[in-house]
Amino acid sequence: MSIFPKRRMRRSRSRHIQPLLREVSISKNDLIAPLFVDELITKPKPLEAMPGQFRYPVSGIASVALDLWNLGIRSVLLFGIPKEKDAAGSSAYDPDGVVQQAVRKVKATVPEMVVITDVCACEYTDHGHCGIIGQTRYGIDLLNDPSLELMNRIAISHAESGADIVAPSCMLDGMVGSIRTALDEAGFEEVLIMSYSTKFASALYGPFREAADSGFSFGDRTTYQINPANRREAILESQLDVEEGADILMVKPAGFYLDILAEVATMGLPVAAYQVSGEYSMIKSAAANGWLKEKETVIESLTCIKRAGADLIITYFAADVARWL
Ligand code: PBG
Ligand code: ZN
Repeated sequence: MSIFPKRRMRRSRSRHIQPLLREVSISKNDLIAPLFVDELITKPKPLEAMPGQFRYPVSGIASVALDLWNLGIRSVLLFGIPKEKDAAGSSAYDPDGVVQQAVRKVKATVPEMVVITDVCACEYTDHGHCGIIGQTRYGIDLLNDPSLELMNRIAISHAESGADIVAPSCMLDGMVGSIRTALDEAGFEEVLIMSYSTKFASALYGPFREAADSGFSFGDRTTYQINPANRREAILESQLDVEEGADILMVKPAGFYLDILAEVATMGLPVAAYQVSGEYSMIKSAAANGWLKEKETVIESLTCIKRAGADLIITYFAADVARWL
């Protein structure tokens, strides 16, 4: 290797040359917009901890999706807030449930929009945990195998409503294999599974729990989501989902976990990164105070997620970025 003065790195950074040498860029094609649909409201409700984000009524969701489509966003991820919750999360697989209605409305208005649904029970259970709870050796906790059956029913009902992709987010063992078999047996072999394959137990989900009314009434999620300290375990979780038949992997949150994302991106499947509610709120609040430049910070955060290996980025900034690009 020749060294200075033959090797001058700044030569490649000169004004006219550097755009040619840019390695990664954000594209609207890669962005997925999360949307909250609330069965109990009739007009959009702003989310206090996520400025610029709303819960939408079922009647308003199609026009939101159409606006996103017209901005160039090709995919949405739907979360539902149901009118009724119970211990078994049964409103999550109601054929006329909030997400099921929302999927039908979006698909009827914007058929080409790729509709992804979050498959989990925490918005639908009165205790706020992600599936069925019961007694275990170590106290009351999320029961794995009984919850798998619930996820199968939720995934099938979303597929029946027209979802293109189901996204199980409960971090149960065996959830991807179980849902794949259930979808195939029900004739939905064309529906993809985007697994929340590596999902950490993160404080950054705080604002989401207000947005989706999915906070837990006791305990925490550390017996199903991964400890942020654990790299090996995080990698194994995604590898298992490759083996179980996932079509798309996911790392969540994104920005603090770029080392994990880079490793998951080598597994042979497309990978999505979820820039979560807390990542959104941190940038928004600093920008609102004039402490950070919003646009520059957002573009940098997404560019770095891309550089680390994400094919897709789920971000609450999707509409803003589409306007800026
Ligand atoms: C539900 C779910 C959560 C998020 C997505 N799906 C919350 C949680 O696991 O507690 C978080 C998304 C965000 O913070 O933006 N299991
Ligand atoms: Zn959940």
